[in-house]
Amino acid sequence: MILKSLQLQNFRSYKDQTFRFSDGTSLVVGPNTSGKTNLLEAVYLLTSGKSFRAQIEEEMISYKRELARVKGKVKIVEETEELEILLTSGQIGNKRTTKKQYLINGVKKRQMDFVGHLNCVFFGPEDLELVIGSPSVRRDYLDSVLEQIDREYRRASLSYKKSLRQRNRLLEQIRDKGRARTSLFLWDKLLLENGEIISQKRKELIDFINQQPDYFGDLIIVYDRSLLSPQRLRKYQDREIAAGMTLIGPHRDDFTLKMVNGGEERNLHLYGSRGEQRTAVFSLKLAELEFVAEKINQRPLLLLDDIFSELDHERRQHLVEVIPKQQTIMTTTDVHLIEPAYRRKVKMIRLN
Ligand SMILES: Nc1ncnc2c1ncn2[C@@H]1O[C@H](COP(=O)(O)OP(=O)(O)O)[C@@H](O)[C@H]1O
Ligand SMILES: [Mg+2]
Repeated sequence: MILKSLQLQNFRSYKDQTFRFSDGTSLVVGPNTSGKTNLLEAVYLLTSGKSFRAQIEEEMISYKRELARVKGKVKIVEETEELEILLTSGQIGNKRTTKKQYLINGVKKRQMDFVGHLNCVFFGPEDLELVIGSPSVRRDYLDSVLEQIDREYRRASLSYKKSLRQRNRLLEQIRDKGRARTSLFLWDKLLLENGEIISQKRKELIDFINQQPDYFGDLIIVYDRSLLSPQRLRKYQDREIAAGMTLIGPHRDDFTLKMVNGGEERNLHLYGSRGEQRTAVFSLKLAELEFVAEKINQRPLLLLDDIFSELDHERRQHLVEVIPKQQTIMTTTDVHLIEPAYRRKVKMIRLN
C-alpha cells in the first residue's frame, strides 16, 4: 500500500492543500508551527480513524470553519482507493450533522470497516510517554496498534468498552437502588468473552516484541495483565459494588519496560536515564513496525515526526537502514540533520 497523495481542507492550519508523496521517502521540512505534525496527524487519521493528539476531535477543524476534509489516494496493488474523513462539530448552520464520516471511494463506511485500508506506524517525541506516562497511555498504545490491524480486536474492544459502561452503571444501581446482583450476569459474560480476546492479542503483541533480537537485545517488556476470570469477578464483587466500578480486566492492564543488565532487571520508568528511555521507545517502535508488517503481510507506512535531533548516532544509522524498507514520511525543522548523500534520494516537501 502506498499513499500517493493527501488533500487537506480546513484541517488545522491547512485551508486547502494537496501533497504528493514519493513511493519511497518523503521529507517534510519546515520551521516550528509550520504544520508538519498536522500533516502527519491527517495521515494517521486516515489509517486509524483517530488522532494521536486531539483530545477533542473538533480541534482538528480549522478555527471558525464548519467542515474539515482529509482525503487520501492509496495505491493497493494495481488499484487506487480514495479514503476520506469528514469532520464537523455536529452542526452546520442550523442543521445537525454527523461529527465524523468515513468514506471509501465516496461510499460511507463504518469506522470498523474503514480502518485497515491504510496502515501506518507513527513515531514522534511524545512517544517517550510510553515509558514515563500513566498506564492509560500504554493501554491506548496497545489498542492503537491492534485496532489498526485486527478487525476482531476492533470488535472486541468496542464491545468491551460498551459492556464496561453498562456494567459500571449497574454496579452503582446495585449499590444505590438495591438492584439484584443477578442482573450482572449478562455483562460479566460479555466482559469475560471480549476481555479474553483483548488480553490474548495484547499478549501476542508483547511476546512478539520480546522476540525481536535486533531491537530488544537487553530490553524486555513485561505485560502486567489484570486478569479477568469468573472466580476473580466473584472475589471482587463486593468491592466493585462498593466502588460502583469494575476493578479488574484489560481496562486496568499495563506494561513495564525493563533493561536487563548482568542478570538484573531495571524498570526504565523508575530507574532509566532519559537516554535509555528514548532508546527503549525507539526499539519498541521498530518492533511494532515489524509486528504490523508481519500481521498485514506487507510493509506499513512509516511516519517519523521530528525525531532525528533526539537520536544518537547509532540509532540514526539504524533508522537509515530501516527507512528504505517501506514508504516513509518524515519531518524535520533542520534539513542538515539528514546526511547530504541521503537528502538527494528523498522527495522534499517544504512548508513555510
Ligand atoms: N484547528 C486549528 N485551526 C487552525 N490552526 C490550527 C488548528 N490547530 C492547530 N493549528 C495551528 O497549527 C500550528 C501547529 O502546527 P504543527 O503541525 O504542530 O507544527 P509543527 O510544524 O511544529 O509540527 C499552530 O500554529 C497552530 O496554531
Ligand atoms: Mg511538530
